[in-house]
Amino acid sequence: MEGPTLVFGAGWLGTQWARRLGATLRKTDIADAEAVRCELDAVAPTRVINAAGATGSPNVDALEGNPAKAYRSNVAGPIALATACRERGLHLTHLGSGCIYQGDAEGRGYAEEDPPNFAGSLYSRTKAMGEAALVDFDVLQLRVRMPLAAEPGPRNLLTKLLTFERVVSVPNSVTILEDFWPSAEALIERGATGIWNMVNDGVERHDELLALWRSLVDPDHAFEVVSPAELARDLVAERSNCILSTDKLKAAGLALPHVEESLPRLVKAYAANLGA
Ligand SMILES: NC(=O)c1ccc[n+]([C@@H]2O[C@H](COP(=O)([O-])OP(=O)(O)OC[C@H]3O[C@@H](n4cnc5c(N)ncnc54)[C@H](OP(=O)(O)O)[C@@H]3O)[C@@H](O)[C@H]2O)c1
Repeated sequence: MEGPTLVFGAGWLGTQWARRLGATLRKTDIADAEAVRCELDAVAPTRVINAAGATGSPNVDALEGNPAKAYRSNVAGPIALATACRERGLHLTHLGSGCIYQGDAEGRGYAEEDPPNFAGSLYSRTKAMGEAALVDFDVLQLRVRMPLAAEPGPRNLLTKLLTFERVVSVPNSVTILEDFWPSAEALIERGATGIWNMVNDGVERHDELLALWRSLVDPDHAFEVVSPAELARDLVAERSNCILSTDKLKAAGLALPHVEESLPRLVKAYAANLGA
């Protein structure tokens, strides 16, 4: 992409995206309006990406009971950053989450304009609230879901699943990062705004993905399928299982490939990176 890009949020996605773009990466607290303004004026970017957010480590359960952090980083921070970008006429891209829905919207998949219907975790509640606020700031909001990538890492869905002994078999929309980056960058190049469901076509089921791992990489990999109710006994917060519509992305000519095509490619690349 042309011109300097400034990425806020030096976590898993922000670090990868900044590396890919050769962008400036900052850990500045996005809820500190003055610090954000200083950073924007010092770096003088032509566009900004917000990959900062409170996600909970190792998962959203860790965020429960910490509303100060969740609201600061997922609501107040994005608003402060959007305000400073708007003052300067800078295009802002914000990483949103699809984990604000439960279900499949009677088979059609949740569209960008459907109101959120999942409030089972502090993470999801604050992501939905941040998203709603940013609609008024003409920000490009990219809804990502359970990201997978060829590079192993603790936040990568495939890495997580390979450590789980028990998984559910529920259809979900997912984002394969190698497919996400080009579409997301095309939207930024176009100066797009509004909410976009950035998920691959088709659905993923954890047991099917692990079966793929067994067939392509490790026939001895063991796991057990349990019901969502059984799994919930080990969790603090509820989990969203949902399918998002990709119609808007398709209409823009930027659809991410179908999971049937992309997941086998991802599994092979992941195994190669592991040396498996
Ligand atoms: N990975 C996913 O499954 C997923 C799915 C959908 C959407 N997203 C969204 O994508 C964004 C990035 O996620 P990620 O996977 O890269 O998560 P991550 O690895 O936890 O990265 C988020 C980063 O933001 C930092 N941060 C938190 N509050 C901040 C603040 N007020 N100011 C500046 N930095 C702050 C965190 O630092 P500390 O760790 O020090 O707090 C962390 O380095 C988040 O908004 C997340 O909601 C992620």
